[in-house]
Amino acid sequence: MINIREETVEFLEIEGRKTLKGVVHVSGAKNAALPLMAATLLTDEAIILNNIPYLLDVFTMKSLLEHIGIEVTELEKGKFLFRFSEVNSLEAPYELVSKMRASILVLGAMLARFHQAKVALPGGCSIGTRPVDFHLTALKKMGAQIKVEHGYIYAKAPDGLKGTVIEFPKKTVTGTENIMMAASIAEGKTVLKNAAKEPEVVDLANMLKKMGAQIEGEGTDTIVITGVKRLKGTEHTIIPDRIEAGTFAVLSALFDGNIIIENYPYQYLKYVHNILEKIGVTMVQVGRNSFVAKRLKTLYPAKIETREYPFFPTDLQAQFMTLLSVVEGVSTIRENIFENRFMHVPELRRLGANIKINNRTAVISGVKKLTGAPVKATDLRASAAMVIAGLIAEGTTRIYNIYHLDRGYEDIDSKLRTLGAEVSRGVE
Ligand code: UD1
Repeated sequence: MINIREETVEFLEIEGRKTLKGVVHVSGAKNAALPLMAATLLTDEAIILNNIPYLLDVFTMKSLLEHIGIEVTELEKGKFLFRFSEVNSLEAPYELVSKMRASILVLGAMLARFHQAKVALPGGCSIGTRPVDFHLTALKKMGAQIKVEHGYIYAKAPDGLKGTVIEFPKKTVTGTENIMMAASIAEGKTVLKNAAKEPEVVDLANMLKKMGAQIEGEGTDTIVITGVKRLKGTEHTIIPDRIEAGTFAVLSALFDGNIIIENYPYQYLKYVHNILEKIGVTMVQVGRNSFVAKRLKTLYPAKIETREYPFFPTDLQAQFMTLLSVVEGVSTIRENIFENRFMHVPELRRLGANIKINNRTAVISGVKKLTGAPVKATDLRASAAMVIAGLIAEGTTRIYNIYHLDRGYEDIDSKLRTLGAEVSRGVE
């Protein structure tokens, strides 16, 4: 027998169609944890973060901060203390940036605080080119000298960064966060127009304000930051992960309200709930922060477009595609944020879904059932779509490239097993 795989690969195997039932808890938000951790570079004092999810991306950020010179101590499960000790290196090396694009989040803080930074240029990723040009143009406008060569961003600001008016050509989440961090200790006032309004941006602003930053307008299109000389330590609890919560909402809908979602951030998912209502699914409150998805017997097809917050998140697009692939009728999903975020479509087809792609729109014709097959996880959220598909498919689904799932879903196997799923890991 010829083995054409040179390395071993880990997979997740799911035995579909088991009845899922019980309580599942939403973890802290990955996309809030990463910028909050980067913000610990802005002060000499200790910062305590609660509700940190144990994810590959979070541990990549931890390694990056330790590499730069932050001491990170786990106080108890989910509670970490960050304290700057001394500069070890003002560089975010390629080994770490290539694992996680969000490493770019340390650029603004390093440059503002130490007036110098070298960050590997994030390469392309499976969902598109994802450049960082808006981050760099904004920092240049604040007085930074930046050159990009040999795959690295070299940035310096010998006289420090200065406040100015910045208008992003297009909304960028990490771009807004990077500049907000830099501006909080820059000289003077920065006006950030066309800023991202995501709850994770607001969570960062809230922590920066507790550290002494002067920020107004977070959660709107215009954020005004008046730089202060120094920031102090604080303690902060990370908001729940709305994308993980939305993923569980889809699962709960498919298992007819037998899954109770605890710590559910209802207020961040209002637009998603409108779409669910159109499909025939209502989120019903069953406890203080606990919700279940109640569904009509027959679900309806839907028309979805991804857009920036408060609209439908691109990070839930793949999971909703799995849901709609078993809803009778024709649904469409248009992806407006990333140009190549339909990599999961061929994989869903392998499970029996009927999906065609027309430029940026996926046309989904509902099928009666999915059937288990070996598939690949093509990116983080696509991996969640595959897991949902495997749970409702007839037979066995084996998902390869499972590290994508571990980048963004905490304890997913045990959370699913608690609900009664038959899920196991293996190596081939
Ligand atoms: C963040 C989220 C990611 C989510 C995405 C969109 C984190 C850690 N990640 O990613 O989960 O899918 O928002 O909601 O929070 N762009 C440029 N130039 C730039 C920056 C962005 O052209 O300098 C483009 C991107 O290619 C994309 C769009 O702007 O088309 C939005 O990207 P952005 O909001 O920056 O995504 P991230 O912050 O990387």
